[in-house]
Amino acid sequence: MKQARRVERIAPYLFAELERKIAEQQAAGVDVISLGIGDPDMPTPENVVEAMARAVRDPGTHRYPSNRGRPEFREAVASFYRSRFGVELDPETQVIPAIGGKECVFNLNLAFLDAGDAALAADPGYPPYTGGPLIADAEPVLMPLVPELGFVPDLEAIPRAALERARLMFVNYPNNPTGAVVPDGFFERVVAFAREHGLLVVHDSAYSELTYDGYVAPSFLATPGAMEVGVEVFSLSKGWNMTGWRCAAIAGNADAVAAYWKLKTNVDSGLFDAVQLAGAEALTGPQDSVRQMCAIYARRRDLVIGALRDVGIALEPPRGTIYVWAPVPVGHTSASFAEEVLDRAAVVVSPGSAYGPNGEGFFRISLTVADDRLAEALGRMRTSFEEVVREPEL
Ligand SMILES: Cc1ncc(COP(=O)(O)O)c(C=O)c1O
Repeated sequence: MKQARRVERIAPYLFAELERKIAEQQAAGVDVISLGIGDPDMPTPENVVEAMARAVRDPGTHRYPSNRGRPEFREAVASFYRSRFGVELDPETQVIPAIGGKECVFNLNLAFLDAGDAALAADPGYPPYTGGPLIADAEPVLMPLVPELGFVPDLEAIPRAALERARLMFVNYPNNPTGAVVPDGFFERVVAFAREHGLLVVHDSAYSELTYDGYVAPSFLATPGAMEVGVEVFSLSKGWNMTGWRCAAIAGNADAVAAYWKLKTNVDSGLFDAVQLAGAEALTGPQDSVRQMCAIYARRRDLVIGALRDVGIALEPPRGTIYVWAPVPVGHTSASFAEEVLDRAAVVVSPGSAYGPNGEGFFRISLTVADDRLAEALGRMRTSFEEVVREPEL
């Protein structure tokens, strides 16, 4: 059966070998603990579940939703942006619901890229920033995140030829997979850069509510001039433990929002009205559960940082996201380290190379497992660590 070339162009799934090994171990009765995927283990807050239950009993929510979204949802997003970020949004023209941040990121590629265009994507980065352009018959141009610059790209190092073709630029802080928060002045530089090169900036703020040690993440849209050059993809998945609900919004530049909307009306039929009403409750109701989640993740993060320090990997604790990004021991690649940790400790960590070539040499631990399981996983990793660390290959 002949598949489209675009399917062939998508990168092979880098977790495939790891998944095969996990299945093998599980079939042999091994208790595998996964610190791989970033899927919150705690339930959605009760007030949101209640709002969903009420909404789903109302037959008024059972018909096709409108792709523009319910006023309650668009106004809730605008009100959250005002109180949380100090950003003014017109709910009529600057907000639309999305069926999760992933859908929104992907469809922005289709809405803004023609064949031969390019999209600038962070490396390492969330995989749809590179898969999306390929599916749109365009080219992802990798922007290496530079640890010395605080895991931001060196904008001056982006090749001129690529910039001439670039239409989109994906940025994401707090950052998956590195856990970095945005350094002072970076968003301002991005706005100036986007103006100079005619780019639409897509800031993915999936982790803005999950921050630690008193750090509060800003919205990109709060940067002077950002509304002229950018949109923000705001997902409720991580902040409110709603990954299964598929609830997000696009906010920002009205022309870009309109283009996304036009495309979307031809692709899907909108976000279930009941989910929109539950999302509105998440954004406008009590926020204590978000604060509780931050406290839980901060505790888990400290457990991980402590365990890594014990085996000789000293790291600054990340101030955002639900991930710890750490270098693999000398002599290992990301993949060989992840495989050995699985073989010897029955623990899954994500190989950094799954997030782009510049992620090679790192691994990612997700904090989304219960404390006792995390402690068990770290204990096993500590015990097997000496076997895992190899002599450097000369
Ligand atoms: C940076 C980033 N953006 C978006 C998403 C996906 O969000 P959603 O569940 O809303 O599709 C993730 C999920 O891991 C992510 O890490």
